[in-house]
Amino acid sequence: MGRRPYTLLSCGMSIDGYLDGATDERLLLSNDADFDRVDGVRAECDAILVGAATVRQDNPRLLVRSQARREERVARGLRPSPVKVTVTQRAQLDPCAHFFATGDSDKLVYCASTAVDDARRRLGPVATVVDGGDPVNLRRVTEDLYARGVSRLMVEGGGTVHTQFLTADLVDELHLVVAPFFVGDSRARRFVGDGSFPWNPGRRATLVEVRQIGDVVLLRYALSARFGSGRFDSPISATREDAPLGGASLGDDGAPLSNPMACDPVARDPLGGGADSLRDPGPLRGEPDFSRADSASLGAG
Ligand SMILES: NC(=O)c1ccc[n+]([C@@H]2O[C@H](COP(=O)([O-])OP(=O)(O)OC[C@H]3O[C@@H](n4cnc5c(N)ncnc54)[C@H](OP(=O)(O)O)[C@@H]3O)[C@@H](O)[C@H]2O)c1
Repeated sequence: MGRRPYTLLSCGMSIDGYLDGATDERLLLSNDADFDRVDGVRAECDAILVGAATVRQDNPRLLVRSQARREERVARGLRPSPVKVTVTQRAQLDPCAHFFATGDSDKLVYCASTAVDDARRRLGPVATVVDGGDPVNLRRVTEDLYARGVSRLMVEGGGTVHTQFLTADLVDELHLVVAPFFVGDSRARRFVGDGSFPWNPGRRATLVEVRQIGDVVLLRYALSARFGSGRFDSPISATREDAPLGGASLGDDGAPLSNPMACDPVARDPLGGGADSLRDPGPLRGEPDFSRADSASLGAG
């Protein structure tokens, strides 16, 4: 078995275990102080991975918000924000999504073999598309990420991805934030789906911390013997040869700027493969809205 990054799975859920509501309306599960904590965790990672449905539905930027944290990363020879990673079977992803269009870190798309050609046509200009098998095998993804220099990986949802990472025993540390309300609608996504989990009544996970953060509570679990050993011993190079084309740049205030090329699907997709899949960016539900965040209190340095 190949080596894989130290992996931290981070998520917020309602008291009744839901990741989101059942409607398109934005559901904020956390509070400002906790979003800032998550920002700090992000800043310590080499890569952040989310499922394709989260990219489509939440349209997250997945950037380090705090300028001080970005500067600290740069001082360590890293990009201001971690590499962004997603997995997809169908490759129906919008090249204009914030995932691709914000920040200057590398973007990696692990795609099922059957859709790789299509994915490269759609997303090649804005991301590195990697053939991940069929379906994409997440253990292989983590091993490939390790080979690319990712020694610390943060997994940020959604439920389908959580389930696979946890049932495959790929998580070393779990950060579970419980918001003080119920969703009460089984059409909504739960933290995980059905599966055979390594932690069960016969093998209990180790609770290592309970922290109240305003009106939410953070539960930290150690899920492997590697707990606490995550290091930055093989940082992502700022000049990888296979870096995607057309990365975004930083504005005067250090904030990442959108890459205008990445948001011109006609220019970037001459074959027209992705045009009919483009949709308006939806509201952010899982993280603070960074388009408004300069005026928000999210640890802006
Ligand atoms: N509360 C939180 O902390 C939090 C965080 C993140 C997300 N969320 C919520 O979670 C919900 C989304 O969760 P979800 O479970 O529906 O989706 P998800 O886990 O974000 O993504 C699922 C999608 O990822 C792709 N995928 C996953 N595993 C794959 C594999 N092994 N091979 C190929 N493709 C694979 C497929 O994409 P294709 O369909 O493209 O083939 C699949 O449909 C949203 O409501 C979001 O708001 C909440």
